[in-house]
Amino acid sequence: MSFQKIVYPTDKKKMYALLEKQALALTEGIPHLMSNLANISALLGSALSDINWVGFYLIPKHFPTYYPLSELSGKEDLLTVGPFQGLPACVEIQIGKGVCGSAVAENAVMLVPNVHEFPGHIACDSASNSEIVLPIHNTTGDVVGVLDIDSPLLERFDEVDKEGLLKIVQVLEGIIS
Ligand code: SME
Repeated sequence: MSFQKIVYPTDKKKMYALLEKQALALTEGIPHLMSNLANISALLGSALSDINWVGFYLIPKHFPTYYPLSELSGKEDLLTVGPFQGLPACVEIQIGKGVCGSAVAENAVMLVPNVHEFPGHIACDSASNSEIVLPIHNTTGDVVGVLDIDSPLLERFDEVDKEGLLKIVQVLEGIIS
């Protein structure tokens, strides 16, 4: 398979509809979670304009294949950085802390127009000015991680981004058992 960078529709709803199809095609028949997360972060990184970080934080206790519980020594509940595109990032975030930890604690999408006004925001990349974080669930409804996207622009993300990215998260939820 070869993947070519394409020009995405300027209409964001159409762009996200195409991204959803690409996400389904990229992950179809691939049983390896980390491979799928890596490709989805690369897909979003190539498609979304004005972003400086896109990727995943995972809660290790929900992924014993990748994070053997015997080796975690009390870190099983820390959001832990997974596949991403961007500068190196904070490795561990406590649930309830920062935008990512708040998305898990509240089980809600966090759409933050100005990260500098978000109490407890964790500045992994000082270029970030706005952010969106979406919880990812397993089949029993537990939050198992988040999709996190940062932008150097203020107010980069809106409700259309939220709805479109929820569709991408649903693709992933379909392959997380
Ligand atoms: N800003 C996030 C931390 C992760 S980085 O953005 C990659 C937060 O406040 O949770």
